[in-house]
Amino acid sequence: MWDFFETVRHRHSIRKYQPDMPVEAEKLYAILEMACAAPSAGDLQAYRIIVVRDLAERTALAEACDDQVFIAEAPVCLVFCADPTRSAQVFGERGANLYALQDTTIAAAYAQLAIVAAGMGSTWIGYFDEGRVRAALKLESGLVPLALLSLGYPAELPAPSSRRRLDEVVSWR
Ligand SMILES: Cc1cc2nc3c(=O)[nH]c(=O)nc-3n(C[C@H](O)[C@H](O)[C@H](O)COP(=O)(O)O)c2cc1C
Repeated sequence: MWDFFETVRHRHSIRKYQPDMPVEAEKLYAILEMACAAPSAGDLQAYRIIVVRDLAERTALAEACDDQVFIAEAPVCLVFCADPTRSAQVFGERGANLYALQDTTIAAAYAQLAIVAAGMGSTWIGYFDEGRVRAALKLESGLVPLALLSLGYPAELPAPSSRRRLDEVVSWR
């Protein structure tokens, strides 16, 4: 098991997956538990995580994401949906418009790191047609899909991506 800093450094977007290596159920549960360990406003966890394993549904998702075919190739796709109504019940508009989105994306970020720690890879997918994702998953009308994570065993080791320098993104006071 890697330490946290190694885990973060080893996370790269993976867009090629081992076709014959399914994701073990116990690892999938561990990843979902880590996602749900993320902080959330008022501890409400205003999100739903849809675990998509069915090939026909993964294919429909890939099509809804402008034909990003690796989504169908990965054995699992996690779809992180905000549940604005849940947060609004306690926090009103701020809950619906801000906290539910933050809850959901933090959970997805935790999942992405847990995936690396579990020896697998993922890509965060934000480029999709919301209506087509909704239709592919027959989503409840109150849920808002925010991010998809393709998930599986990597079949590539991408070169590390660049980052802006710290002094460009950090202001010290
Ligand atoms: C909000 C968001 C949306 C993204 N959407 C896509 C996407 O639709 N397709 C894709 O292949 N990668 C997508 N990515 C992954 C980024 O391209 C990737 O994280 C970035 O290039 C840095 O590379 P790295 O993840 O390997 O460090 C997205 C990432 C984020 C955070």
